[in-house]
Amino acid sequence: MANPFYYSYSYTIFLLISLHVAAIAWQEQGTFVTTPPLPILPLPSYSQLKWQQREIIMFFHFGVNTFTDSEWGTGQENPAIFDPKGLNAAQWIDTAVQAGVSLVVLTAKHHDGFCLWPSKYTDHSVIGSPWKNGHGDVIQELVNAAKARGVDVGLYLSPWDRHDPRYGQNKAYNEYYMAQLQELVNKYGSIKEIWFDGAKGSNAPNMTYDFSDWFSLVKELQSSINIFSDAGPDVRWVGNEKGFAGSTCWSTINRTALSIGNGSIVNYLNKGDPKGTDWLPPECDVSIRTGWFWHKSQSPKQLDQLLEIYYNSVGRNCVLLLNVPPNTAGLISESDVQRVIEFRKAIDTIFSSNWAEKCAITASSQRGGKGGGFGPENVVDGDHLWTYWAPSDEYKEDHWIEFKSLNGPLIFNVVRIQEAIGLGQRIRLHEIYADGVRIASGTTVGHKKLYRLEKGVVQAFCVRIEIIGSRATPLISSVGLHFDPFWHPNGLVPWQVVH
Ligand SMILES: *[C@@H]1O[C@H](CO)[C@@H](O)[C@H](O)[C@H]1NC(C)=O
Ligand SMILES: *[C@@H]1O[C@H](CO)[C@@H](O)[C@H](O)[C@H]1NC(C)=O
Ligand SMILES: *[C@@H]1O[C@H](CO)[C@@H](O)[C@H](O)[C@H]1NC(C)=O
Repeated sequence: MANPFYYSYSYTIFLLISLHVAAIAWQEQGTFVTTPPLPILPLPSYSQLKWQQREIIMFFHFGVNTFTDSEWGTGQENPAIFDPKGLNAAQWIDTAVQAGVSLVVLTAKHHDGFCLWPSKYTDHSVIGSPWKNGHGDVIQELVNAAKARGVDVGLYLSPWDRHDPRYGQNKAYNEYYMAQLQELVNKYGSIKEIWFDGAKGSNAPNMTYDFSDWFSLVKELQSSINIFSDAGPDVRWVGNEKGFAGSTCWSTINRTALSIGNGSIVNYLNKGDPKGTDWLPPECDVSIRTGWFWHKSQSPKQLDQLLEIYYNSVGRNCVLLLNVPPNTAGLISESDVQRVIEFRKAIDTIFSSNWAEKCAITASSQRGGKGGGFGPENVVDGDHLWTYWAPSDEYKEDHWIEFKSLNGPLIFNVVRIQEAIGLGQRIRLHEIYADGVRIASGTTVGHKKLYRLEKGVVQAFCVRIEIIGSRATPLISSVGLHFDPFWHPNGLVPWQVVH
């Protein structure tokens, strides 16, 4: 009998059951949207990740030393010698922008104790200078110029102070230092980095700095700041002033093993620690000239020296802090301006084209299979952080990714590899092959690993990167095969192909 209600009721039940069965089948086939792999701790903070992506930042060493032709002032300088008649912070910032730099750090106070801002707590400052009749404030000028061009500001406040008589009295000097720190982090808006160091003359009075108090205060007053020192807590010193990180360079390290101004930890700082419990990546500070301050007798480093520094810092998982000192006129010298423009142009030239983008890319395995979103093609998209090739967790053999030319040979002398560091630093050991011949091998990768090939230009149809050691499944976010026309190993001209 035709009961329409009964029919539709049973039909609905049938439909629900079939849907349920289909859903179970769907689950059993594993067709959930593939999830990202689990992170491996420690991880970077939001501010550390932003800092790392800047790659190059700029230091301005400026103060009484600029006028006395010295590197370490005595503290006895008369503030009247500080008279940068043509000071134009906009010119400093323009130089930074032309260098592709988004963060600049100024020496608010160096070891001589002279303050570039009118501190309430001392008269050893711009207040005693003829510049702007004692009404000037270099920090304010820098902050205004930086803000106008969207550049961020950082500050250095030297713990060692050769002028202030309280230096050596723990309580009195720490109070003075903290008072100045509060001025700096309160008065000038957002400060993105603060720089502390342990530099100190061998016969300076003994002093115990209240570092933990300083760090806490800074964090309280600036939410997105990174604190730099030998011991972090956000960015660590690389252990030298040459601008070179270790060829092995972990962003991870044990903070408990670090202390400020301790000469016995420089190797540890340089390499980091694969077992490190803290994310504390290194910053490579180096000057474009021999000295940190401007001296008439010195000139900027050559382009090939700057490129060497770039490959050994940014190309070894670090941020490069390049010092470009303003001169007695209060300007960056024209020779330095021209050199940093040349440096930026060279970097842009080298990395503007990527042979890897013109290849068929395959890999040993991929998480979630084809269409899972973690395929090897992710290494040539524009995102160098959150899209990446992830091998399958089940695949336990060595992982590899391969680039095959679609027409004609690949011609390159630089290999770039980047890890998806947002999920932790992983790779311990890797090798690179061109048509089956090993052309490079190394340890860590991190944010960016650059190889400038010692043998010169390679011409090959197939390039393979093998990951042979890793703290967890390796995640590669970007790969580049580039041509560096400035690289002349052993006097070879770049187009001479030796492979
Ligand atoms: C600093 O302290 C050490 C150890 O207590 C002592 O040997 C040294 O003479 C002190 N230096 C000064 C400049 O007071
Ligand atoms: C320097 O660092 C080493 C290694 O962590 C440590 O044993 C030593 O106590 C430190 N020295 C000072 C003065 O902090
Ligand atoms: C760092 O700390 C980890 C965890 O405590 C430890 O396994 C490792 O050995 C430490 N590294 C060094 C160099 O002591």
